[in-house]
Amino acid sequence: MKVIKEPAEVRKTVNRVRNSGRSIGVVPTMGALHKAHRSLMSRARAENDFLIVTIFVNPTQFGPGEDYSSYPHNFKEDKEICSRDNVDVIFVPDKDDIYLQGHATTVNVTGGLTDYMCAKYRPGHYSGVATIVAKLLNIIKPHRAYFGQKDYQQFRVIERMTVDLNMNTEIVMCPIVREQDGLAVSSRNRYLTKAQRRSAPYIYKGLKEAALRIKAGEAVESKYIYEFIMDKIPEAKIDYAGVFDAKKLTPVSNIKNDVVIAAAVWVGKARLIDNVVVKTGEKQWRVS
Ligand code: PAJ
Repeated sequence: MKVIKEPAEVRKTVNRVRNSGRSIGVVPTMGALHKAHRSLMSRARAENDFLIVTIFVNPTQFGPGEDYSSYPHNFKEDKEICSRDNVDVIFVPDKDDIYLQGHATTVNVTGGLTDYMCAKYRPGHYSGVATIVAKLLNIIKPHRAYFGQKDYQQFRVIERMTVDLNMNTEIVMCPIVREQDGLAVSSRNRYLTKAQRRSAPYIYKGLKEAALRIKAGEAVESKYIYEFIMDKIPEAKIDYAGVFDAKKLTPVSNIKNDVVIAAAVWVGKARLIDNVVVKTGEKQWRVS
C-alpha cells in the first residue's frame, strides 16, 4: 500500500494502472474511518482491480460554525485500517494542492435536488461536496466511485453532477451500515453523551415506522415523524423530517414512485442524518 500526497503522483499511478487494463475503484472519505467506510471499501475492493481511498477533510463543505476545526482526525489508525483492508493507494492531499492559489471554480448542482432536505439547512454544503468530488474524480478518473446511502442527498447530487459534466465514472450507492440498535454509524456519533447515544436510535425507528405505514398504504405526514421523534427524544431539535421523491428529492404527499423518508436531527452537539427508502416499483413494496 502506498500513501500519496501529490495529485500529480496519483495521476501517474492511476495512468499506469488504467493502461495495463485494470479497473480502478475509489472511496472518497474525510478520514476517521469506521465500519461503514470499510463496507464501501470492501465493495470497491471486490468490484475493481485497484482500490484508492481518499482522505481529505474538505473545508469548502463546512459552513461557518460547523465542526471543520474539530472534525476527528486519526491518520495512523486510518492507515492501519486501509492496510488491513488491502487498499492499494491512500490519497491524502494537502489543502493547498487541492485548492490552488486563486482558485475560482465551484460546481453547483441546482434545481430540486438542492432545494430541500439538508441543502436548506447547510447553504453551500453541496457546492463544496460537488466541487471536491469533481476534483477527486478528475484527478483519479476511476471506473467506479462508491458512496453511502446514509448521505442520500449527497449521492443524488454527485450522480447528477457526473452525468451533467460527462464524467466517465460509475457512481455506486452502498447500503447504510448501522449499529446493533439501528443507529446509523457516523464519525459524529462520538459527540453524543451516553444518554443521548441511548435515545438516538429512535430517529431510525421513527423513519422505519413511517416506511411500514407507507408500505401498508397509509398516508404519512411529516408531522407523524416529528411527533414520533420528539416523543422519544424530547431534547431533539429537528431540522427536517419528511417524505421525498427518491430521485428528485422534492417533498411528496401522494406517493406514486419510490420515496426516501429522511430526517436531520440535532441531539446535543451531534447533527444526525438518516433515511429509509421505500421502493414502490415492485409488487411488494420494499423498505431499505
Ligand atoms: P465521510 O463522511 O467520511 O463519508 C465517506 C463515505 O462514507 C460517504 O459516501 C458516506 O455516505 C459513507 N458513509 C458514512 N457513514 C455511512 C453509513 N453509516 N452507512 C453507509 N455509508 C456511510 O461523505 C463524505 O465523507 C464527504 O462528503 C465526501 C464525499 C468525502 C466529500 O468530501
